[in-house]
Amino acid sequence: MKKYINDLTVCSNRQLSDDYFILGLTSSDVLPEMLPGQFAEIKVDNNPNVFLRRPISIHDVDYTNNVLYVLVKIVGQGTQSLSTLKVNDTVNLVYPLGNTFNMDGVTNVILAGGGCGIAPMLYLARHLHQKKIKTTILLGGRTTIDILESEEFKKYGDVFVSTDDGSMGEKGFITNNSIMKQLSSFQRLYCCGPLPMMKVFAAIAKQQQVDCEVSLENTMACGIGACLCCVTETDKGNKCVCTEGPVFNINQLKWQI
Ligand SMILES: Cc1cc2nc3c(=O)[nH]c(=O)nc-3n(C[C@H](O)[C@H](O)[C@H](O)COP(=O)(O)OP(=O)(O)OC[C@H]3O[C@@H](n4cnc5c(N)ncnc54)[C@H](O)[C@@H]3O)c2cc1C
Ligand code: FES
Repeated sequence: MKKYINDLTVCSNRQLSDDYFILGLTSSDVLPEMLPGQFAEIKVDNNPNVFLRRPISIHDVDYTNNVLYVLVKIVGQGTQSLSTLKVNDTVNLVYPLGNTFNMDGVTNVILAGGGCGIAPMLYLARHLHQKKIKTTILLGGRTTIDILESEEFKKYGDVFVSTDDGSMGEKGFITNNSIMKQLSSFQRLYCCGPLPMMKVFAAIAKQQQVDCEVSLENTMACGIGACLCCVTETDKGNKCVCTEGPVFNINQLKWQI
């Protein structure tokens, strides 16, 4: 797929809480095709201390209004500076990067996102819904404010929620949500979130022989396969997560699970 380096204009900046915000980005040109799972490398122009672009998933795309949305968690200087962007500011993106989720050969699937791991899942849910694939969504986080976009997800399927402190949905880890008892009724599990969470999902899926894809968030620099800082070990040797991923089937990964 063709990659673009474009200045996009901020058309909205919605603060979801102290930790999370959603930027709407638009362009005078028609936005290119983007697939669920793909990401953008965003230049943080408003902070001279942040040199490297930051990889951020495509959260959603509204082609009718020509707006690309990214959902960001503030963890350090780069994401903090992005959170201060205002309407009409410009931001430079290299995009769309990476591969996509496999949506073939399934009629009934489950998506699981932990905290900001839901970022690539909304656009995936939209695509699955358009393909008339029955979709169940499982959201997890430490507490209520980490459960993001649940109303948006409800447009695309049944939503189940777990919080560690029980302030929303079931109390406990997302991997222990009661819907997981029915995992074998789904043909594929897609997940994104903290690595330990994805490894537990992968182990359960493997045990129950359910196909499983994970979206990895390895630390990245170039985003185009040049610096090799994002490699992960696979059955076919080391692969760059930025170009060969970020989505991998768990059978490809050499994980200790
Ligand atoms: C393919 C991909 C897609 C991503 N999509 C999103 C997204 O949609 N929304 C979002 O909020 N974040 C996403 N991330 C993570 C995001 O890129 C990092 O949180 C961001 O680069 C941190 O930049 P910073 O300058 O704010 O923090 P830094 O100062 O760089 O780091 C602050 C802290 O965050 C940790 N950190 C940095 N990068 C990562 C990472 N990749 N994973 C886990 N911890 C990290 C550092 O170890 C450090 O402890 C994605 C990462 C990848 C690789
Ligand atoms: S980030 Fe440079 S090779 Fe992947």
